[in-house]
Amino acid sequence: MSRFSANINLMTSAALRAGRGLVRDFGEVEKLQVSVKGPGDFVSRADIRAEETLRDDLLGARPNYGWFAEESEPVSGKDPTRRWIVDPLDGTTNFLHGLPFWAVSIALEHKDEIVAGVVFNPMTNELFVAERGCGAWLNDSRIRVSARRDTETMLFATTFAADAWLGQGQTAETPSRRFPVNAGIRGWGSASLNLAYVAAGRFDGFWESGIQAWDMAAGLLLVREAGGIVSAVQAGRSPIEDGSIIAASGYAFDRFSKLVGAAD
Ligand code: IPD
Repeated sequence: MSRFSANINLMTSAALRAGRGLVRDFGEVEKLQVSVKGPGDFVSRADIRAEETLRDDLLGARPNYGWFAEESEPVSGKDPTRRWIVDPLDGTTNFLHGLPFWAVSIALEHKDEIVAGVVFNPMTNELFVAERGCGAWLNDSRIRVSARRDTETMLFATTFAADAWLGQGQTAETPSRRFPVNAGIRGWGSASLNLAYVAAGRFDGFWESGIQAWDMAAGLLLVREAGGIVSAVQAGRSPIEDGSIIAASGYAFDRFSKLVGAAD
């Protein structure tokens, strides 16, 4: 990891430590599935505990930075140009249901730009890391977005959340009607991991509206550093200010963003 800055090393060790705690909790969740009360409260506590671990590590080492995270109030640091943007458990619904597709996501923003990002899936031990100007990495290997050129062989990802789709007068089949020509769409429920998968060339594109900075900040840098293109659904805005993201390989982006834009 010496190719990266001290901040990346800090983010990585924080993600690994929080991830270890979450893996232990995930084991408990599987047992609680069958209890009458279910695992809901336990998962909320696990999420909060993971965020406390991350906050201790990240703000402990960089006390002047700001803090913007899913489970606690934002803090503005003495250094107003830098803040951590953190989702301790991205893919909470998956975690709650015992599905092993969730991640710890940490980004560092400097002067309104994301300059470092780490997405860690502790269930597969996959650590995705990107730093501005240094490329994107999965464990020790450099990653790049997909080179697939034919729409028929592409695979896209989004989220099929009932409130997002059905609440707007759309039906559950809408996504497949939007994409009549491609190979498929997956909706696996963790924005940061979906973006990491675009960076690694597994998906050709991902889009989602109505998401928060902590869901996408690290992942969007991964895609950019892996050679992909990222924008908000609404042209001219940044994904973080718009709360929406389209991320894809260079080959997929134009066609993909037209399809998403036409139906969004
Ligand atoms: C959620 C996941 C999900 C996305 C939601 C997010 P959370 O984050 O990223 O894929 O569709 O918009 O809120 O709540 O699990 O941290």
